[in-house]
Amino acid sequence: MPVDEIFEPLAFRNLSVKNRVFRSNVSGRFDNYDGSGNQARINWETKFARGGVGAIVSSFVPVTIRGRIVPNYATVDCDARIPFWRALGNAVHEHDCRFIMQLSHGGRQRDIPGIEFEQGWSATERDEPLHGFPCVAMTQPQIHETVAAFAAGARRARAAGLDGVELHAANGYLFTQFLSSGINDRTDEYGGSLQNRARFLLEVVRAIRARVGHDFHLQVKLSAVDRNNVIPWEKKGNVLADTIEVAKWCESEGADAIHVSTGSLFPHPLNPPGDFSFETIATTYDAMISSGVDAFRNFLLFRYRLLRPIFRWVWFRMKKGLPIEGVSLEEARAIKANVSVPVLNTGGYQTASFVRAGLASGAFDGVAIARSLVANNDLVRQWASGRDSPERPCTYCNKCLLNAPKNPMGCYELARFPSRDAMIDELMTIYATRPTLNLPPVPLAQSAANALPQRGSQLAAQSALAQ
Ligand SMILES: Cc1cc2nc3c(=O)[nH]c(=O)nc-3n(C[C@H](O)[C@H](O)[C@H](O)COP(=O)(O)O)c2cc1C
Ligand code: SF4
Repeated sequence: MPVDEIFEPLAFRNLSVKNRVFRSNVSGRFDNYDGSGNQARINWETKFARGGVGAIVSSFVPVTIRGRIVPNYATVDCDARIPFWRALGNAVHEHDCRFIMQLSHGGRQRDIPGIEFEQGWSATERDEPLHGFPCVAMTQPQIHETVAAFAAGARRARAAGLDGVELHAANGYLFTQFLSSGINDRTDEYGGSLQNRARFLLEVVRAIRARVGHDFHLQVKLSAVDRNNVIPWEKKGNVLADTIEVAKWCESEGADAIHVSTGSLFPHPLNPPGDFSFETIATTYDAMISSGVDAFRNFLLFRYRLLRPIFRWVWFRMKKGLPIEGVSLEEARAIKANVSVPVLNTGGYQTASFVRAGLASGAFDGVAIARSLVANNDLVRQWASGRDSPERPCTYCNKCLLNAPKNPMGCYELARFPSRDAMIDELMTIYATRPTLNLPPVPLAQSAANALPQRGSQLAAQSALAQ
């Protein structure tokens, strides 16, 4: 039998994954307002593990409450969160699937900031350009505090028995705000040259290595090209050559893999690539109107048909000539040619033969898939059974994305379901109670100092790591 590249194991320095398919990060409002996790998220992640992916890269996991982008995301901001992440990791591991936590900080890109912190932190004090989210420029003590928060998050992920961490240094969040020449306007040693703009990210990589050692998987998600001028008068930001340098520096500081994405904001016309449903966003964007100074303007552009061509031009002009499947494949290939650690690529993957060809040609070592797996949780099993693409494929309509700020996470493409009721039933499956989660009550005042007692053999390992 000829080798099927998709089902060849992938060996990183510190982690082995059974095949080349990673569930890419998919955020949804699964959890509790305070950042504690719940069963819905466990049910959600387990779907993909059962469906055959080799590893799951979690959704955006804030390392501090200020760093979250929407409430109801499980955080990793204190030791009291460790038992939840352990329960989640255990549930995923039952399916021979690995679980990598995406350590994240939103900076100024806060869709619905929540009640705890009015101000977002950023590299700059300029508002985020698409929605007008306000922010203040971080002081150096605030930068150092945030570096320590990332290291503590990695330590907690390891203590929870997870298989690795990913730094979310793509798509416009805090790391991008430092990295991007289109955003970072600092004049201290964290701004100016590429080396200075990369300082914060590299300090975090170093701090994580110092905290968790060199035998724990650490990957970095980077946007290969910023294309920061979605709002036409913004600067274009970093180009591929900049990101190649950053990827090389990450590797030399101890990163085990690079996960290649694109775009200096989220969403971006090229991420996730595909359509833009005005009908959907007109019913969900109201949840964000008070978050940014330009959000009411946007709401009018989405809501009124006569105004829609303006936003359509802004959004669709950047997609010209680019495919959906493998939208950043050539950029991944260029980065892979310059680093020796494995490279993952995200953006539109859904066809087995296309992924196989990318692997065989050396463009990437694995693919990270979000929407095609949201649509068909068992996509990998379908590929294994010989199908090239699913019978009811993801249409790249992006309705899942545009529902995310307000509604449950899942596929909203009515055309894929026999009826609307069937679609709602499928969306609601993640709320079914299962016996996986049995956590002790979380104390109201949480801090690194008041970690909950841990049970069994993990106690010794965790308390050693907690030092
Ligand atoms: C609803 C939704 C939520 C997402 N949340 C995250 C996230 O939390 N972190 C992240 O890095 N990317 C996130 N992404 C981007 C995906 O991980 C992925 O990189 C992107 O959608 C392109 O891959 P795809 O074409 O397979 O969907 C999200 C995408 C979608 C559609
Ligand atoms: S709503 Fe469904 S079909 Fe549309 S992009 Fe999301 S997963 Fe794909």
